[in-house]
Amino acid sequence: MLLGIAAYNYRNFDLIARQYSQCFITPKQETYSNRILQFRRNQTITMRKNRVCPVERARSLDLRIRRWFQNPQKILYPYINDGMTVLDLGCGPGFFSLDLARMVGKNGRVIASDLQDGMLQELQGKIEATEYAERIVLHKCEEDRIGIADRVDLVLAFYVIHEIPDKTRLFREIASILNPNGIVFISEPPFHVSGKAFRLTIQAALEAGLAEVPGERPRAMLSKTAVLRKA
Ligand SMILES: C[S@@+](CC[C@H](N)C(=O)[O-])C[C@H]1O[C@@H](n2cnc3c(N)ncnc32)[C@H](O)[C@@H]1O
Repeated sequence: MLLGIAAYNYRNFDLIARQYSQCFITPKQETYSNRILQFRRNQTITMRKNRVCPVERARSLDLRIRRWFQNPQKILYPYINDGMTVLDLGCGPGFFSLDLARMVGKNGRVIASDLQDGMLQELQGKIEATEYAERIVLHKCEEDRIGIADRVDLVLAFYVIHEIPDKTRLFREIASILNPNGIVFISEPPFHVSGKAFRLTIQAALEAGLAEVPGERPRAMLSKTAVLRKA
């Protein structure tokens, strides 16, 4: 929350400072300030186009400190039983995949699916020559298609839905691969995803044939969360 307030104040301060400084600048400074503005505009356009989290950030998703505030087992234990098949959609470097593999046990399976080969390679490096290599199946999906044939009991979509352009299509596919009573656990990052955007995401899920589980709002720090079932 403190970070949020600081970011908000910094943004306002930045805007005021820019407006104020424009009253006193020389032509040379003006050219310089225009270049900075153009640079910032280009950056924003690039960020909008590349909405997918780059592989270079894989390590930062997998920091040990993250377990202090987003411990996968504490967040997910109410939803996972031994022997389940779980889809870790947008698994990244597998921060959740290994814990999921522990939780589903020897008879269960985790399909760790990501758009980017680099992310899947990071995860492959972590599981090879471990007992989890047999339990975790790596799967590369398309931007607009998960493309797995299996039926699953739980779909974990942690910090990924906002990176997917056609959410209704995605949720339809999720509904089609869910077992009866299957669950979708959604978490979105609060700094990237506004309350309105999150409500629209849930709306898209409902339109695609999923239903909210009444009263179920799991708590995970730095997360907007929802749990859905097949309607
Ligand atoms: C912010 S990372 C989150 C990774 C992981 N879920 C975590 O919480 O650590 C988002 C991941 O979603 C993946 N991704 C983005 N669009 C995707 C899509 N259409 N299908 C599958 N994965 C996607 C990205 O490649 C990236 O690895």
